[in-house]
Amino acid sequence: MQHKITVVGAGNVGATAAQRIVEKELADVVIVDILEGVPFGKALDLAEAAPIERHDAGIDGANDYAATRDSEVVIITAGIPRKPGMSRDDLLTTNAKIMKTVVGQVVKYSPQAVLIIVSNPLDAMCHVAFEASGFPKNRILGMAGVLDSARFRTFIARELNVSVENTHAFVLGGHGDTMVPLPRFSSVAGIPITELLDPAAIERLVKRTRDGGAEIVSLLKTGSAYYAPASAAVEMAEAVIKDKKKILPCAAYLNGEYGIHDLFIGVPVKLGKGGIEQVIEIKLTSEEDAALKKSAEAVQGLVEAMKKLDI
Ligand code: APR
Repeated sequence: MQHKITVVGAGNVGATAAQRIVEKELADVVIVDILEGVPFGKALDLAEAAPIERHDAGIDGANDYAATRDSEVVIITAGIPRKPGMSRDDLLTTNAKIMKTVVGQVVKYSPQAVLIIVSNPLDAMCHVAFEASGFPKNRILGMAGVLDSARFRTFIARELNVSVENTHAFVLGGHGDTMVPLPRFSSVAGIPITELLDPAAIERLVKRTRDGGAEIVSLLKTGSAYYAPASAAVEMAEAVIKDKKKILPCAAYLNGEYGIHDLFIGVPVKLGKGGIEQVIEIKLTSEEDAALKKSAEAVQGLVEAMKKLDI
């Protein structure tokens, strides 16, 4: 293949992302994990599916980052997932330490890569990756908004009995309980859902979207969602690899946009070869703005907590 993507973490999200990338023939893939054998086994298994799935993308496992050299995109899923009763924030200390080690290795071999962060708590992990990499802010993207809006779209399509392809949804803010789904920018075939659903129904779908991750955790019991998170990360990687200039909601480092400073939070961005090429600013109502600021405060709280722990 012409392109190369590394996926760090050969667990549920990482292996599923690797599968989607090779089956789309987006790039050759290297899967890295600290576990002995596992990244090699998953890569070999995926390679042996290639003749049936009819693709020629290369896929290798690795424990050593030398194999990741010159990756254009690195998707980082390393870390522990939630169990029932845990919030994403409960993962902070463990995953921050893992993120720091991983990013240190990644940048050594792929100094020009765009990093797509998936590990939770997402917005805080983007901060760790930003600091540990020394990369410019446009090359650190957090995967949250694409997933949260895909969940919202699923619920809208089911509620109205229409194709998911007709739906569009917008979600701002942190990847947590304070996320801000925006109904007036969410539509079906271009018609805002505020014209199609009553406020109580919209509120029900918004709440289910906010709790979407926890709903899956409570059903799986042994871990968190991975099919949709992997799809979301791969949509972002594809926008970068193909230089699509696609506007997607991602966690991005804000420097005054939306009145927020020095913080990663979910906003619409234009994704192309260089990573984030533009933060799209939309005018929010005072209510939406207050919800976004509240979400930013929650993320800021985690960043402060990490500083205190000296991670
Ligand atoms: N380097 C590389 N891989 C690591 C490291 C490390 N330092 N530490 C842990 N890992 C690997 C684990 O060995 C495991 O294979 O990360 C993988 C995580 O996989 P799962 O436990 O299956 O977790 P998953 O469901 O994939 O979620 C990973 O993404 O969505 C988020 O909240 C989720 O933070 C979690 C992450």
